[in-house]
Amino acid sequence: MAAREAAKSAQNLDELRVLLEGFEGCMLRMTATRLVFADGNPRGRVMFVGEAPGRDEDIAGLPFVGRSGKLLDLMMQAIGLDRGQAYIANVVPWRPPGNRTPTPQETAICLPFIRRQIELADPDILVCLGQPATQTLLGTKEGITRTRGRWFRYDTGRREIRALATFHPAFLLRSPLQKRLAWRDFLALKKALTG
Ligand code: URA
Repeated sequence: MAAREAAKSAQNLDELRVLLEGFEGCMLRMTATRLVFADGNPRGRVMFVGEAPGRDEDIAGLPFVGRSGKLLDLMMQAIGLDRGQAYIANVVPWRPPGNRTPTPQETAICLPFIRRQIELADPDILVCLGQPATQTLLGTKEGITRTRGRWFRYDTGRREIRALATFHPAFLLRSPLQKRLAWRDFLALKKALTG
């Protein structure tokens, strides 16, 4: 409730970041080193959203800078994108201790903030990286192997945009054979951005 009110009151991304810096409703901030708000270009046409920062991100204060971030950069590069053209964030902006999965309650507390962040960034296409981001933002119940490669509608609050579910790069590092399918998703993304 407090999160929803706070998130709504932010009129731009800078205000949202400041609000989150001061938000005390999520206990993850106590164990995290710092807030990991976003990276890339908020004016980009595509926004990538992952689950939560890991150790490297917690240190840097930026999302996707560790091993999975390097893979994400390569995948973006392969379709002609870099962080100057894409905006990147996570559903949960603080690192859960020991990289554990955020609890449903932690996710629920953070949800109004990431929703507002998407609304304010106003991308044309939202890409959900992995099952947690996909289920949280797109309301799917099935696993990512069933939802990846599928296009969804996402209501930002301002308008409906297209949303694509794909594998999380951390999963691709563990299961490199699945990169073939992720590549298909990124080609579909490229087509949607250029077509
Ligand atoms: N995994 C995520 O979901 N987000 C990050 O920022 C890094 C790893």
